[in-house]
Amino acid sequence: MEDKLHAIREEALQAIEQASSPAELDQIRVQYLGRKGAVTQILKGLGKLAPEERPKVGKLANEVKKGLEKALSAKKEELEKAVPEERLITGFDPTLPGRRLPYGSLHPITQVMDEIASVFIRMGFSVEEGPEIELDYYNFEALNIPPDHPARDMQDTFYIDDKVLLRTHTSPIQVRTMEKRQPPLRIIAPGKVYRCDSDVTHTPMFHQVEGLMVDTDVSFADLKGILTLFVHEIFDPETSVRFRPSFFPFTEPSAEVDIQCVMCRGKGCRVCSQTGWLEVLGAGMVNPAVFRHVGYDTEKYTGFAFGLGVERIAMLKYGIDDIRLFYENDIGFLSQF
Ligand code: DAH
Repeated sequence: MEDKLHAIREEALQAIEQASSPAELDQIRVQYLGRKGAVTQILKGLGKLAPEERPKVGKLANEVKKGLEKALSAKKEELEKAVPEERLITGFDPTLPGRRLPYGSLHPITQVMDEIASVFIRMGFSVEEGPEIELDYYNFEALNIPPDHPARDMQDTFYIDDKVLLRTHTSPIQVRTMEKRQPPLRIIAPGKVYRCDSDVTHTPMFHQVEGLMVDTDVSFADLKGILTLFVHEIFDPETSVRFRPSFFPFTEPSAEVDIQCVMCRGKGCRVCSQTGWLEVLGAGMVNPAVFRHVGYDTEKYTGFAFGLGVERIAMLKYGIDDIRLFYENDIGFLSQF
């Protein structure tokens, strides 16, 4: 009987040593120490042994039982400290800190457009929007560009059909706004515009911000003041601004606004074609012909309008020499902003 107990102990200890999960340990415990377990059976059967054998066997059986209990709890502790089996299998450890996702940021064009808008919002302008798929009427006709007007050639239009097109500028929003609102009016209209054109300074889709102010006494001096302040806010307050006579059918008189070259500070370089000046805006006093299309009293009201290209401003601000970089979605380029 003593030999049998020794054998049971050896076998059980080995099984415990090799166990790889708490569930397996539990099985071993039942097998040896459970109600019908091998050691339990011997303890229960002590009464059937010869009286002189009982104390020795009883003592040994109790020692074996205690020894196995100790080994079981030690192994259990060891297994619980180790990485649970299912984590090893899936490679997923919920106790590890999470992996950080890289932050995104607004597209540089969106950032510049927001910055432009905020300058005008601070001067009391509100933001209007209009459709990108536009009627010929709003894009051209109501802006004093009739069907055979040569000014249509200036804008390489994507037509959808005779009367519908992708807007070539944000100016139609002037007309849409004046149709639904009465002066005084002070709005800007940022948005996408489309022209059939593509090279280092042109993409078929680009962004403009339109401006319009109408009231009883708006003058060219107001236009100059507001646009000069705008340039000083977006570039720097030392930048010289010049207004050069130009032509747009929807403004009279019209001007193009140049700023001192931001690259060479006016000395003359490749970017400004040695002139020292960069064109950034088209502007002028609203042509009374446009007011007549929306039913404004041309005796009572005057106004100014302007339009600027957002990509152009962004290129000058950040010294970017190829407009296409904005739309290639190169993370290395975009993450600099
Ligand atoms: N719409 C013109 C263009 O895309 C820009 C422009 C010029 C807008 C003069 C105006 C303006 O409002 O007064 O070329």
